[in-house]
Amino acid sequence: MTMSAWERPWCGSLRIEDVGREVELVGWVRRRRDLGGLVFADLRDRSGIVQLVFESEMLGEGEQLSQQDVLRVRGIVRPRAEGQANAELPTGEIELSVTAVELLSKAETPPFVIEDDTNASEELRLTHRPLDLRRPVMLHNLMLRHRVVAAIRRYFDEMEFVEVETPILTRSTPEGARDFLVPSRIHRGAFYALPQSPQLFKQLLQVAGIGRYVQIARCFRDEDLRADRQPEFTQIDVEASFVAEEDIYTLIEGLFRRVFPLVGIEPPERFPRLAYDEAMERFGSDRPDTRFGLELVELGPLCKGCGFGVLESAAAGGRVKGIVLPGGASLSRKQLDGLNEIVRPHGAAGALWVKRTAGDIVSPAKKALGEDGCLRFAEAAGASEGDLLLMVGGPEKVVLAALGALRLHLARVHDLIPEGRHDFLWVTDFPLLEWSEEDGRFYAMHHPFTSPRPEDVDRLESEPGAVRARAYDVVMDGVELGGGSIRIHDPAVQRRMFAALGIGGEEARARFGFLLEAFRFGVPPHGGIALGLDRMIMLMAGLDSIRDVIAFPKTTSASCLLTEAPSAVDPAQLAELGIGVIGKSEG
Ligand code: AMO
Repeated sequence: MTMSAWERPWCGSLRIEDVGREVELVGWVRRRRDLGGLVFADLRDRSGIVQLVFESEMLGEGEQLSQQDVLRVRGIVRPRAEGQANAELPTGEIELSVTAVELLSKAETPPFVIEDDTNASEELRLTHRPLDLRRPVMLHNLMLRHRVVAAIRRYFDEMEFVEVETPILTRSTPEGARDFLVPSRIHRGAFYALPQSPQLFKQLLQVAGIGRYVQIARCFRDEDLRADRQPEFTQIDVEASFVAEEDIYTLIEGLFRRVFPLVGIEPPERFPRLAYDEAMERFGSDRPDTRFGLELVELGPLCKGCGFGVLESAAAGGRVKGIVLPGGASLSRKQLDGLNEIVRPHGAAGALWVKRTAGDIVSPAKKALGEDGCLRFAEAAGASEGDLLLMVGGPEKVVLAALGALRLHLARVHDLIPEGRHDFLWVTDFPLLEWSEEDGRFYAMHHPFTSPRPEDVDRLESEPGAVRARAYDVVMDGVELGGGSIRIHDPAVQRRMFAALGIGGEEARARFGFLLEAFRFGVPPHGGIALGLDRMIMLMAGLDSIRDVIAFPKTTSASCLLTEAPSAVDPAQLAELGIGVIGKSEG
């Protein structure tokens, strides 16, 4: 007789109080030991492990247990023998004295060690993802994700938000990445686009009167991938009517205070706010990691007439800023040269260094600036004896980005991020538009439906670059967790926004006509935000790649090693869609 699946205890759930109980358990064999006719084996499921003890003859004729075999056992819970308890294991005080054992499935030797500490490369893990997910740490991540999503849904339900699903087969949405396209068989030559976000639909739901919308929504973006970017990812997508910035802030602060304690992180009641300009000036990033110092210091005014042409011309044509690394005067020449590799990808020529040692200054700029000159820079930057000053000059964008990257690099390498500290903050007052040198036009920094600040609207035509947006990002430990805005609900302002973006009336109607049309019939003021769920779980689990919190992720080259997607398709399928492939990429 087998026990009902729903009454059967989990392997990791048994405790000393269960002694004497007769139970049935199922799971995978973790390891086994034979001791003169007695078999000791660990049985594991997602909850943990329990020790089994049985006589080897209980196994069928010629049967041998191996790791990862699937078993069903019956037995009596009993205390472990004197001195055999294992304090490190929740089930360490007991074992199951097995009375019946059934081998449900035999396992071959797995391609890698199925333990937290595995010997497998990420490639091998992704190729054999089900086995990789069987590792306790990975099952833990999946279960954490489930618990967080359940708590999120409860929170929004209590706040009277309604979860509404929006289409996956849709039209291009305006988040600024490339679309994934899906050809239509019925409408030959026409394509659906997968949503980059549910942005337009959640706004339309406000026109409908839903008032408070939430969705755990899948989004698709064809963009360059990295550790915290996947081509398909999940957002906690939120929109509400008759709200202002403060309402969104308190809503999300409340959510985080509900969810983060699940992993022992207690966010503050109110998150600090930092204006975009200040974030860029102090941290060189619009998602600053504020858990450590190393703030950027202004050195431009000192450069004028300083006698070092490189600095003089950099300051005249752009900006010069620096960072002080406390104790950094001990860095070797090789280490200092290595820092150039950090700033160069951002367009900087290099990082100019000044070491302030006991009674001396060492710097490649010493000849041009003189000892006094170098000292002036060190003093102005706040570099004391033993410290290192690093300077970068050039166009503002380059200087801020390069020093922002250098700051993060130095903090990591020199271990300046306090263990266990977590910082949450709002970045506010983003510019509405961003100038692209390359394309010679403005782009929406957020998306074209983000409202300008009312006091700035009049500058939309005269000084578009100076208009601030009613947009905000929520940042944790230097990771952008989410972003949103109060939207434009006035058709005249929307037209002016499109004009600033170079989108004419015709194009606006073609791309967003359905939204503009709906806005004619009574649109409530509204706003919202979307949080990256994968990134949130990654931070909660203390990881640095979202691939570890997504069951079946893609590699950085956007392929799924498990299913080998994307793959070639049957020519007959293409013919039906009226599609011909004109070139194939390698690999
Ligand atoms: P945004 O484009 O800022 O805003 O996206 C919101 C959040 O989604 C996460 N995210 C990603 N996570 C993993 N992989 C990706 N490729 C990826 N791209 C974005 C980030 C980001 O902060 N519709 C607007 C929101 C709004 O205005 O309400 C939007 O999608 O954590």
